[in-house]
Amino acid sequence: MKIAVTGGLGFIGSAVVRHLLGPTTPRGEDTIRGEDPIEPIEVMNVDKVTYAATTGSVASVAESPFYHHVAIDIADGSALREAFARFEPDAVIHLAAESHVDRSIDGPDAFVRTNVVGTYELLQAARFEAERRNVLDSFRFVHVSTDEVFGSLGLDDEPFDETTAYDPRSPYSASKAASDHFVRAWHETYGLPTIITNCSNNYGPFHFPEKLIPLMILKAVAGQPLPVYGRGDNIRDWLYVEDHARAIVTALRRGEPGQTYAVGGNAERTNLDVVQTICDQVDAELGDEVGDRRNLIEFVADRPGHDLRYAIDSSKIQQELGWVPSIEFTDGLARTVRWYLDNEWWWRPLLSERYDGQRLGVAVAS
Ligand code: NAD
Ligand code: TYD
Repeated sequence: MKIAVTGGLGFIGSAVVRHLLGPTTPRGEDTIRGEDPIEPIEVMNVDKVTYAATTGSVASVAESPFYHHVAIDIADGSALREAFARFEPDAVIHLAAESHVDRSIDGPDAFVRTNVVGTYELLQAARFEAERRNVLDSFRFVHVSTDEVFGSLGLDDEPFDETTAYDPRSPYSASKAASDHFVRAWHETYGLPTIITNCSNNYGPFHFPEKLIPLMILKAVAGQPLPVYGRGDNIRDWLYVEDHARAIVTALRRGEPGQTYAVGGNAERTNLDVVQTICDQVDAELGDEVGDRRNLIEFVADRPGHDLRYAIDSSKIQQELGWVPSIEFTDGLARTVRWYLDNEWWWRPLLSERYDGQRLGVAVAS
């Protein structure tokens, strides 16, 4: 099976590539989509290599003869079509995106270009390629989206599920919502067999240190102030990235075209709780020579339009496709802290060359 993975040098995309080609490969299993004999998996990683991309995140599989990287912008339709005609994919797993809410507040343009226009170009390239080879029915297009398209929950609201109405509130979530609508339209109008997953906040190894968890780990390790937006009472539902990679591949193998699957980690936590737990875990690993790291927490100006709460009910993917999250949050967070302590080679150059940890997304008009 030939799979074009977009965004495979990013955080979640690289976990998907490692899952497809690494020691946990589903090649060991004997069926795909429940019936056909499984074939070797070959991956074409379509990644433009933005600031968020790191080749080190796929180093463990990059020497495989079943792995290729093409540095293509998904908004470049003709380059995509050529690459698809050469590789002849049976499926696309689409993860390429601008993914950081704070950056979408500072500069929404790239979000529209990659997340909206790029998804449109990718849908067209997949559709033309599947029609060209007369494989439209067996083709699969898995679109990886976010629970942020559903807006913000109140404390007493039921978690999001596949029936929740779209209500995006940030430039990032608006661009992802638009992309979901295009994907659905290509299924209904052109018969492209698409599957959408909407997942909650991921965490784990190879997470770019602009996002809450890796940023707080690295600042806590360095003994620097830990900036918590507002009062730290916003709630996210945390999903370990390798559980998510398995969910995406499960959706590809067993998902029903035209369907959406909500994927969550059953781990709702306030931001303050997450940051305090990171402080305690870093103290336990490194000792408290800088003092109790909880004292580094600083409440700073809130994010404009900050969604209060996200939470996911993932019963559908659990019951229909048999996926369950396997990593409990405190354990996953401890593994993540340990991973950052052991893998300075990966993150140190990012801090010195790409992002030094300064505040983003304060919406100052320029
Ligand atoms: P990321 O920012 O870590 O990686 C994105 C990757 O896409 C990078 O390697 C980048 O080079 C590539 N890319 C960006 N623009 C591109 C373009 N125009 N053409 C080709 N490649 C391009 O993102 P992530 O956190 O791994 O997220 C992956 C997907 O999952 C995204 O679609 C995101 O919306 C979705 N998602 C993420 C989370 C999360 O918690 N991180 C939660 C829900 C959904
Ligand atoms: P983030 O990792 O940016 O993910 P998202 O905005 O997609 O949920 O942020 C997670 C939560 O942490 C969010 O409520 C904003 C908050 N946050 C902070 O309090 N301080 C920070 O420095 C960052 C980056 C995020």
